[in-house]
Amino acid sequence: MKSVVALLPPAFALGAQAYNIALYPRQSQSASGAGGASGSAAANPPASSFSFTLAATNPTAVPLASIISNAPSQATHALSTTFAPGTNPTVVSNAPALPNPSLLAPSNYPALDKVVPTDSPEVQQWIQQVNSSGITIPNIAVNQPGGCPANLEAAADADKSRCWWSCTGCVAPTDIVDCPEKLTWGLTYDDGPSLYTPDLLSFLEEKNLKSTFFVVGSRVISFPAILQAEYMSGHQIAVHTWSHPSLTTLTNEQIIGELGWSKKVIKDVLGVTPTHFRPPFGDIDNRVRAIAKAMDLTPVIWTRISPQATFDTDDFDLHSGATTASHVLQNWNFIEGNATSSSFNTGFILLEHDLFQESVDIATGYILPDALAHNPSFKIEPVIQCINQPLNNAYLELNDNSTNPPPVSASSVGIGSATPSSSGSGNTGAALSLTPAVGPMLALAVTLLAGTSLLLL
Ligand SMILES: *[C@@H]1O[C@H](CO)[C@@H](O)[C@H](O)[C@H]1NC(C)=O
Ligand SMILES: *[C@@H]1O[C@H](CO)[C@@H](O)[C@H](O)[C@H]1NC(C)=O
Ligand SMILES: *[C@@H]1O[C@H](CO)[C@@H](O)[C@H](O)[C@H]1NC(C)=O
Ligand SMILES: [Zn+2]
Repeated sequence: MKSVVALLPPAFALGAQAYNIALYPRQSQSASGAGGASGSAAANPPASSFSFTLAATNPTAVPLASIISNAPSQATHALSTTFAPGTNPTVVSNAPALPNPSLLAPSNYPALDKVVPTDSPEVQQWIQQVNSSGITIPNIAVNQPGGCPANLEAAADADKSRCWWSCTGCVAPTDIVDCPEKLTWGLTYDDGPSLYTPDLLSFLEEKNLKSTFFVVGSRVISFPAILQAEYMSGHQIAVHTWSHPSLTTLTNEQIIGELGWSKKVIKDVLGVTPTHFRPPFGDIDNRVRAIAKAMDLTPVIWTRISPQATFDTDDFDLHSGATTASHVLQNWNFIEGNATSSSFNTGFILLEHDLFQESVDIATGYILPDALAHNPSFKIEPVIQCINQPLNNAYLELNDNSTNPPPVSASSVGIGSATPSSSGSGNTGAALSLTPAVGPMLALAVTLLAGTSLLLL
C-alpha cells in the first residue's frame, strides 16, 4: 500500500535531487500556474485527468509545471529569525532558557535515518523506565514489512485487539485523529527539519499561522537551529521517531529506542520534551500505543473518513514523481469537500510534509493560500490548540498536570487518563492496559465495558 513506502535514503532526503527516477513517464501539464483558479492535467498512468479549483494562490508561487520530481534544486534560504542560546521562550510559560545547539555532538547520538541500536546505556535505561511504568505491553507479534497484505494474521485482528490503524483505520480512544470543532484544521508537517523548512516557516510567519511539526530525531541533529526557530515562534514540536521506521515492524526495545532518542534530542535542543508523537505511515497498533503511553507520548494520526477518503494530500510522493501537483491539489479539494460536508461534524487533521522542496512549494504556493481564502473560513492551528489545550501542554515539563495528568502518572495512580480524545468517546486510563493474561476477546470486552469504543472504519 502506498503509505508503507520506505522513506528515501538520507542523501536524497536531505535535498540532493540528482536522484530522479521518474516512476512514471512525464505527464503533460495543462494546469494553470500561479494565479490560476483552476486547472487539470493528464497523468500517465493512470489515464485520467485531475481537476481542482483554488480560491486563491500565492502570487509568488512556484508554477505547478515546475513542481515535478526532476525540477532543479531551488536555492535554500536562511532562517528569517534565529534565537540566541539562553533566550527565554515567550510562547510558553515557565520554560527553561534555550540551550546552545553548537554544544550538540552528533557522535553522542545514533546514526542518521537508521533504526537505533538497543544496547546503549540510554536505551537500556528507557527500557527499565517503561518496565517500571506499570503499563503492560500487550503481547502482539512484530509485523513483517509490507502492511496488511504481508501480515494476514495481524490483518484479521486489525480491528480487534491490535487496533492497527494503518491496516484498517482502527482508532483507539487515546488517538487524536481530528479536532473537535468543525472547520478547525490541526495543521501538521512531518519529516523535517529540512533544507526547505525555512521557506515554509517564512510563509507561516507572514500569514501568522502556527503548525505542529512532527520531526525526525536524527534530522534534528542536522538542523537544530530550525527546530529552535519553530519552537520559539509558537509552533508545536512533536516526535516522529528517530529514523522513520514502521513501528509495528520493530521490537518493543527498538520502539523504546526510537521514541526515547527522539525525545532526548528534542529536549537537548529545546530544553523541553514533547508529549505528542505521530507514528510514521500511521503505523500504530496497541503494542506501539502501550509503549508510547509508558513514555508519556500521545498518538496523533490524521483524519480518515473511509479507505477512500483519507486526509492525505500525498504531497510526499511529488518528490519521487509517484504523483503530480495536479493530483495533490485534487486530493486537497476532496479533503476540503469532505471537511466542509454536512455529514462531517468535526474539525480535521491532514498529512503534509516539509521534507522536500516540492511539498513545501505546493503548501506555500497553493494549499495554504487556498485554505486561507476558503469560505466559510477555516480556523488553522497546531493540534494541541485544536484540541483546546494550551501550548504548554505540548511539553512534559510545562504540562499542567492538574488539568491534564500525563499518561503514566494517570495510570499508575489508577485514575482515568485525561489524555485528550477529540473523538468524544469515553476515555479511561484502563483502555490500553490489555494484560497478556487476558485473552484478546476478553480484553476487547473489558475495553468496551470500560466505556470506550474501538471505532471500526
Ligand atoms: C521487567 O522487570 C521484571 C522484574 O524486574 C523482569 O522480570 C522483566 O524481565 C522486565 N522486563 C523487561 C522487558 O525488562
Ligand atoms: C470526499 O473525498 C472523496 C475521495 O477522497 C471524494 O471522492 C469525494 O468527492 C469527497 N467528498 C466531497 C463532498 O468532496
Ligand atoms: C508536570 O509533571 C512533570 C513530570 O511528569 C513535571 O516535569 C512538570 O514540571 C510538571 N508540570 C508543571 C507545570 O509543574
Ligand atoms: Zn513521516
